[in-house]
Amino acid sequence: MTELIDDFNRSIRYVRISVTDRCDFRCVYCMSEEMTFLPRDQVLSIEELTMVARAFTELGVDRIRLTGGEPLVRRNIGELVENIGQLDGLHDFTMTTNGAQLRRHAATLRRAGMQRLNISLDSLDPERFRALTRTGSLERVLDGIRAAKEAGFERIKLNAVILKGRNDDEVLDLVEFARHEGLDISFIEEMPLGDVSDHGRAETFCSSDDVREIIESRYPLLHSAEKSGGPSRYYRMADSDSRIGFISPHSHNFCDSCNRVRVTCEGRLLLCLGNEHSTDLRAVIREHPSDIEPLKQHIRDAMSLKPHRHHFTTDGDVQIVRFMNMTGG
Ligand code: GTP
Ligand code: 5AD
Ligand code: SF4
Repeated sequence: MTELIDDFNRSIRYVRISVTDRCDFRCVYCMSEEMTFLPRDQVLSIEELTMVARAFTELGVDRIRLTGGEPLVRRNIGELVENIGQLDGLHDFTMTTNGAQLRRHAATLRRAGMQRLNISLDSLDPERFRALTRTGSLERVLDGIRAAKEAGFERIKLNAVILKGRNDDEVLDLVEFARHEGLDISFIEEMPLGDVSDHGRAETFCSSDDVREIIESRYPLLHSAEKSGGPSRYYRMADSDSRIGFISPHSHNFCDSCNRVRVTCEGRLLLCLGNEHSTDLRAVIREHPSDIEPLKQHIRDAMSLKPHRHHFTTDGDVQIVRFMNMTGG
């Protein structure tokens, strides 16, 4: 049972921990081209990140997802994954990655007890993939996906952020790819975090209903009883094990059932992706480096800061100045 219950009676059992703000890609919806990154001493160390994870599991959190930036560019990520994999009470330990470094890391992640993996994939066309990620190589990510399959993950989910005029004509190709490879896939509506300056978000906004219509032109979608415990609404196709998810912060608000909080790579506990309500865990850890109780009490107290919902709009205004790479979504 979790000790973490907010003022709206939501049980917090899931924490997303960003382990670095750095990334080898510069996806157009996530970062601006010229990003500066945090000095290392402002980012939590591997020991501090482990302490955060332990504090949450001792408070009853049983799901942890590591994010970034790109978690696999974090130095000693293998050590962190091993530490967290050994914590008692953890039932679901996962990572969201861009996939480019998976050939090197997939087996380590699997060995440490990760069962599931989410990999971002917005296009199957090499040039387009490069344009959307600015620095990424499609070939490398496809090889990373192969490596993850070889390592024996139980479920691999692809994430595709769909932008009108950029990749909305690839929805069916992405579904075909997921079916062929035996993977799940989620289609995501872009959220207004950070001034990305590459495109007008109002013009490129593509709703999940539009994406769903494209898919249903080929595959009727069946409601799936499966609950992710997260924002994704899942569907199935009649002739495939692949699940299709929609993450629709704009068109289908899911805040009432929110089960999660986030920790930024600086150790800021963020109570909601779409609000600035937060508290500094790093200060508590650095004041009490060998006593976990003050940290746990600080986390308990912070639950009253969790807001009811985000108020994202699709008019293209930046609503949160923080870029996505600080929190990993
Ligand atoms: P699980 O719930 O762990 O299965 O995975 P997920 O699909 O939530 O995680 P992933 O890291 O793959 O994120 C996919 C997308 O969902 C990203 O764009 C995230 O920003 C978004 N997302 C995840 N959680 C939330 C949330 O609580 N609020 C909002 N607005 N978006 C979220
Ligand atoms: N809106 C929606 N999803 C985003 N992601 C990154 N930036 C945004 C954004 N502005 C996605 C990535 C990755 C996941 C962690 O978040 O594509 O799959
Ligand atoms: Fe890197 Fe992921 Fe952001 Fe792309 S979306 S720049 S891969 S952190």
